[in-house]
Amino acid sequence: MKQLLKTGLMAAVVVTSLTTGSVLAQEAAMNEKHAKAATKYRHALYTLVASNMGPLGGMAKGAIPFNQEVIETNAMRLEQLADMMADYVKVDTRKFDVDTEAKDEIWENWSDFEGKISALKSAAANLQTVAAAGDESKFAQAIGKVGGTCKSCHDDYKAD
Ligand code: HEC
Repeated sequence: MKQLLKTGLMAAVVVTSLTTGSVLAQEAAMNEKHAKAATKYRHALYTLVASNMGPLGGMAKGAIPFNQEVIETNAMRLEQLADMMADYVKVDTRKFDVDTEAKDEIWENWSDFEGKISALKSAAANLQTVAAAGDESKFAQAIGKVGGTCKSCHDDYKAD
């Protein structure tokens, strides 16, 4: 009877965690080696994000001329990188001594963090549409929207 009760409780726990999908989306790093590798890949992802945003920021500021093709390509890549972001950040490295600017709050508020990823994805998709339409007067604003989603996430989840 005691065993049955235990099994029943376990089943209840499993069902509860299955229904709160976002909790399952993150996982604790298994050891320091795992945490360090995850941090390295996380940095690599954000480095790619920054390299695609750099020219767009330069265009929005007027430092370099608008280039419709570059905007479309980089906006598409930013959307793809947003698609990878949850996977690259889900490994919770809080318990290990890693060199990171990722704040602990990421893994405490995972579904909010995922919402910030979605915001980047939508803004990047919108930028592709705006670039494809070819009206240069709308480019800077659409790039600014993408930049706003970087800042919004960094404000809450990146230490500087
Ligand atoms: C959903 C949250 C989120 C979004 C959106 C986001 N970032 Fe970040 N970014 C982070 C976090 C967290 C880190 C810290 C990673 C670490 O140090 O482990 C980071 C790190 C960085 C870094 C430092 C990379 C490094 O190697 O330390 C740069 C540069 C950067 N982001 C640029 C951008 C740009 C540009 C955008 C928008 C196009 C953007 N990020 C969008 C969360 C985000």
